[in-house]
Amino acid sequence: MEKVVLAFSGGLDTTVCVKLLEEEYNYEVVTACVDVGQPQEELEKSQNSADNINAGKHYIIDAKDEFAEEYIARGIKANAEYEGYPLSTALARPLIAMKIIEVAEKEGATAIAHGCTGKGNDQFRFEAIIRSMSDFKVIAPIREMNLTRTEEQAYAKEHGLNLSYDKIYSIDENLWGRAIEGDVLEDPANEPPEEIYEWTKSAEDAKDTPTKVAIEFEEGVPIAIDGEIMGLVDLINKANEIAGENGVGRVDIIENRMIGLKSRETYEVPGAKLLIAAHQALEQLVLTTDELRFAQYMSGLYADLVYSALWQEPLREDIDQAIDHMQRRVSGKVVMKLFKGSIQPLSRESPFSLHSIEQITFEDKETEQSEVEGMIKYHGLQAANYQKLNR
Ligand code: ARG
Repeated sequence: MEKVVLAFSGGLDTTVCVKLLEEEYNYEVVTACVDVGQPQEELEKSQNSADNINAGKHYIIDAKDEFAEEYIARGIKANAEYEGYPLSTALARPLIAMKIIEVAEKEGATAIAHGCTGKGNDQFRFEAIIRSMSDFKVIAPIREMNLTRTEEQAYAKEHGLNLSYDKIYSIDENLWGRAIEGDVLEDPANEPPEEIYEWTKSAEDAKDTPTKVAIEFEEGVPIAIDGEIMGLVDLINKANEIAGENGVGRVDIIENRMIGLKSRETYEVPGAKLLIAAHQALEQLVLTTDELRFAQYMSGLYADLVYSALWQEPLREDIDQAIDHMQRRVSGKVVMKLFKGSIQPLSRESPFSLHSIEQITFEDKETEQSEVEGMIKYHGLQAANYQKLNR
């Protein structure tokens, strides 16, 4: 019997996929769950449900450090957000796909399967990687059989699949954020129920006193919070905690999906919002006007590429190189204030600061003010000529 490796989370879609792959596709199924910082109990659940549905072999692959250092770090340096969403799911997908390929090679499988439906972006992200990095056949049972969530539930019941999930929403969670979809959220006319949020407090329930947090960066990457140097995984967890407590990081958008659908998406991304805001505050101090304008342009392009399953696109690598070059001076310290959902910089300092207190101060005698007159006289020469035509 041929073997297939299924990217497995233990949720409804992937659980149903195990049985479908055995019964409808006649494969021996190996399941693999890539740990990109989802909660421990979710990993345990994936193990339990793999055991329950009697899948052959189950892998849990720890990819947290790689996710933080090779993907999230790039997201921070690029200030990458798509329509206000810091790309938590989108950044993790290429890494998950690459890890699944490794398992498939090790297992001598002939195919790789995923549980994506035919409506979302994740199917593009998984398959772009699998097709460009390997020759494995791709199987997407839910999409190929055009199953609805209700049909999947019925199938699971019929086959006695013990579902370890108890959620009505479709949730994708990792170190960089939490995406919540489905049920009442599908209609943008409905307000999101408070119960969907787990990482963030509402502004009303957040602390009544502001929190100040100091973040230190080295070449665009955060390395310390409140003076404590830590690895990126711990630092992001800490940032999630601090910002979430202060009601920072709830995102509710009408998102433009790759296939053109508009979709109401809700996210909890407290750490991402805090770290990106702090990073931008530092960039303002150390980059030139032109660099900042160009960084902003690259940021939009970069986010679009990551969102739309083009991690493999050479332009993504080109932009990463340009950003890394620019980030050599993005080192220093920023203090941010968090208060009931709001976030603002309080202070920033850097050895690479281009700001000069001597030049800007009203007390300066060194800069000869009158010398600026010549510059003023000829500034907007063409505009002045144009206005003269009408005078
Ligand atoms: N809309 C987001 C994206 O395309 C999040 C998708 C979350 N996926 C999920 N299965 N809930 O990146």
